[in-house]
Amino acid sequence: MCGIVGYVGSRDATPLLVSGLRRLEYRGYDSAGVAVQEDGQLEVRRAEGKLDNLVQVIAQKPVSGTSGIGHTRWATHGRPSEHNAHPHVDCGAVTAVIHNGIIENFEELKVPLLRAGHRFTSETDTEVVVHMLEDELKQGRSLEEAALRVVPRLEGAAALAFVSAKDPGKIVAARVSNAGGVIVGYGKGENHLASDIPALLEHTRTVSFVEPGEFAVITANEVRFLGRDGRPVEKSRTTITWDPVTAAKAGYKHFMLKEIHEQPRVLSDTLLGRVDRGSGRVIFDEDVRIADEQVRRLQRITLLGCGTAGYAALAGKYLIERLARIPCDVEIPSEYRYRDPVVTQDQLVVALTQSGETVDTLAAIDEARKGGARVLAIVNAMGSQASRVADDVIYLHAGPEISVASTKAYTTMLADLYLLAVFLGQRRGTFDQGAAGKLLAELFHLPTLVDAVLAEEPKVKALAYRYHQSKDFLYLGRGINYPTALEGAHKLKELSYSHAEGAAAGEMKHGINALIDESLPVVAIALQDGTYRKMVSNIQEVRARAGTVIALANDDDEDIGQHASDVIRIPRTNDLLSPILAVVPLHLFAYHVADRRGNDVDQPRNLAKAVTVE
Ligand code: G6P
Repeated sequence: MCGIVGYVGSRDATPLLVSGLRRLEYRGYDSAGVAVQEDGQLEVRRAEGKLDNLVQVIAQKPVSGTSGIGHTRWATHGRPSEHNAHPHVDCGAVTAVIHNGIIENFEELKVPLLRAGHRFTSETDTEVVVHMLEDELKQGRSLEEAALRVVPRLEGAAALAFVSAKDPGKIVAARVSNAGGVIVGYGKGENHLASDIPALLEHTRTVSFVEPGEFAVITANEVRFLGRDGRPVEKSRTTITWDPVTAAKAGYKHFMLKEIHEQPRVLSDTLLGRVDRGSGRVIFDEDVRIADEQVRRLQRITLLGCGTAGYAALAGKYLIERLARIPCDVEIPSEYRYRDPVVTQDQLVVALTQSGETVDTLAAIDEARKGGARVLAIVNAMGSQASRVADDVIYLHAGPEISVASTKAYTTMLADLYLLAVFLGQRRGTFDQGAAGKLLAELFHLPTLVDAVLAEEPKVKALAYRYHQSKDFLYLGRGINYPTALEGAHKLKELSYSHAEGAAAGEMKHGINALIDESLPVVAIALQDGTYRKMVSNIQEVRARAGTVIALANDDDEDIGQHASDVIRIPRTNDLLSPILAVVPLHLFAYHVADRRGNDVDQPRNLAKAVTVE
């Protein structure tokens, strides 16, 4: 998730672009850059790392002009570095591009460009675009004509903006799919562009949203919108009434709520480009190098992660054992690192970490590597320590997670673990191609289903308000939704400061039943999979002891209402994918209980986002 800005007018563009980027830095801070038009020349300044580094570069080598574009990067293709920083320029350094998203078919597009002699200077997927534009501009086309010919050839998700010294005083912006916003802000004798509203509010409150498939052609005095076919599109203007703090959270009260609502989009980003169209096989980026032969030889997988990442690890065990038939164990990193664990060379250690900096997870990775195991890290933060020390890395592509309580990183971890299980199963031949196709089709449908779950938020909120005063909660699940019960309880306790316990429902008779009375709300995950009947029996046991049951059930379950006091419903999917849907209302429930209590939701007391000390 990157941030893009643009300005065309009569003022000096550089400080305006930098201040817009400052507001977008939450979207990524692996590098930043600007391209400004100065005396018919295009000047580019870029720096690795945070925006302040770019500010220093500009101070040493100032650049000014009245139009330009700027970018702050959350690296996806190509490590964080200056040469991978945007804007990217063509061979003659006259045209520049900035991009948010992933161009899935960039490798295919690159081949003819290399053959034609284009010189690439980065490892990014983005750079192909500017070389394609270069070819079109050479034919004497305007910037928008060139963009109209290039952008439809891009597959994947993208928000793009271009400037060219060949067509000065103009920015052309395009939105390829649903991923990444492109918003035009209207000023007097000047116009602006940004990925989201916070970067525009300093200058204007009147904006238009570029929709997927549309282009915007922006000059100082005019903004035109075009469709894919180049025909003009009529666009309405919207007046934004947000204050600056609301704006940074995109209108949500807390980052946590914003991040929960981002899930359909970030899940799409996670899945993008992960299946080879020809073979139907799961493929990861070049950062996963494990050979098929080594996958076939694996005797054991150990999954590890702290906190929420640890619950994802537990779900990973269910996924990998079921789909790839490799025995898995799950470890708590702070225990593993000091236990003198048995590590073997035919073992794969899968380390899950959003930040890639959790100290115990890093120490557990070291321990595994010392013993000769291969380490695969599933990480969100590119360039983090875990991503640097692991043999293989799968990125979550969830964008920056700001709320201490992890939500979108959890669901994208589950999606990546599912992909990993299919990847391993395909290489070990545990299912045929037809079955794999079905498993993957269901996965790709998930973002739409998560959207449907989010639409139920008002009901979950009402329930949270009803139960917000309870001092204890119990969460029950079975099978692959046992980890969901643990994660649901974990989230409730860290945010609401109430005691909450998650348990495997089959364990109730071994102690938990003693807790049940009329004051204990029990959240029971009772989806229509192989564990349904057993869960209904557990629910009845709770009811028989006067407990209150909130059931999480499928939307076509007509019977559940007679067993539970309240029901939260989610759509049906493959049972192995159901944790991704089931956890969303549980996160929302925890959020609304905590918010109702007036707690600091984004920064719960005594907790930190990345635990870098023991
Ligand atoms: C902290 C955070 C949690 C997170 C855990 C592991 O406790 O508050 O949200 O799940 O660390 O962090 P990691 O970055 O390794 O996933």
